[in-house]
Amino acid sequence: MRNSKIKDIFAMEILDSRGIPTIKTTVTLESGDRASCSVPSGASTGLYEAVELRDNDSERYLGKGVTKACENVNKIIKEELVGINAFRQEDIDKIMIDLDGTENKSRLGANAILSVSLAVVKAAAKNQGVPLYRYLGEEKTNTLPVPMCNVINGGAHASNNLDIQEFMIAPTEYSSFSEGLRKCAEVFQHLKAILKQKNLSVAVGDEGGFAPDLESDERAFELLNQALERADAKGIKYTIDAAASEWELKDGVYKMPKRGISLTREELAGYWKNLIQKYPIISIEDGANEDDWTGWQLLKKELDIQLVGDDLFVTNTKRLKKGLELSAANSILIKPNQIGTLTETIQAIQMAKMAGFSTVMSHRSGETEDTTIADLAVGLGTDQIKTGSLSRSERTAKYNRLLEIERELGQKGVYRGQSAFK
Ligand code: PGA
Ligand code: ZN
Repeated sequence: MRNSKIKDIFAMEILDSRGIPTIKTTVTLESGDRASCSVPSGASTGLYEAVELRDNDSERYLGKGVTKACENVNKIIKEELVGINAFRQEDIDKIMIDLDGTENKSRLGANAILSVSLAVVKAAAKNQGVPLYRYLGEEKTNTLPVPMCNVINGGAHASNNLDIQEFMIAPTEYSSFSEGLRKCAEVFQHLKAILKQKNLSVAVGDEGGFAPDLESDERAFELLNQALERADAKGIKYTIDAAASEWELKDGVYKMPKRGISLTREELAGYWKNLIQKYPIISIEDGANEDDWTGWQLLKKELDIQLVGDDLFVTNTKRLKKGLELSAANSILIKPNQIGTLTETIQAIQMAKMAGFSTVMSHRSGETEDTTIADLAVGLGTDQIKTGSLSRSERTAKYNRLLEIERELGQKGVYRGQSAFK
């Protein structure tokens, strides 16, 4: 056995896809095996997420620097973890959770802690000489997630007039991940041509989808219908992330910030119902506010599709447990940086699976070239993955990693298509 004890941990400040600082940590083992992890960052951040520690020093990066988080890794965390075997992931995560000592990881920063947690597991996989997805899932990890490719951006991810944050396409009727991805990429190109023809903007938003101004959010689906037709993409369905926690909610009435439309809970449920009837929408994420459990229960009662909790659950088993008790949602978005350690991420996935929820691995709107979530999706067996558009390298890097994994799996690889959805 090659020596798998942690020898060194080093964190530094780098830039994410929005040009905002984030943390990159490298873990080196006694054996010389070395792995890094860069942490992503959200824009439509959930109220109940673990804390992303920022310097708040207005002299640097408008206060967004992460030198304190780096220092916490390089001094406090490193001192505790050097000498520990990298295979002891749960112990390592527990040490960091205890060292932080707060409910929301506000002392050391969830960004600091997660960077170490994931760099450790990647170094451990290297030490074993297996890819990360295999290390995490052992021999049974053969299933590729269904991608939800975000082709039109709105909400907090674009400066256009769309209130729905993400319009995505999911290749549900294809026999493999690569065939499905190809079709999505073709639709993306056809969509671009259609937008150009109509003199609409083809500039892209934070997650790489087009961000045109449109006369209504519904118009986006009409354009998508046209793109699907041109691409002869009959096996593609739509999914959305409304990110409704970003909308104003007062006394049970929602107000969409861009168009200023006001809807009661019941009207909002009706709004979604109408769209589902008109278009092949099979999943809605954050169709209600993170504090509006009543609204979520109503959606669950009224809509017979996959309802994904992102800001609602924040990858947190306590919030998920409440959701199970109240029968809100039937699916969970998994963002490791919402909770801050690999162990807790795995716990959220396990609890969701036990309850019969579907699971969706997810990027953040601020990303890096790091592709760890692709391996996590396969290794931890999430049903779907949400990692942005078919443009911008920080998004396509994850798809490209999944293509590699699919190739490695060869004949053993499984692609579930539609059956991966609730
Ligand atoms: P965020 O958006 O990374 O800006 O939070 C992604 C999402 O809401 O799913
Ligand atoms: Zn979301």
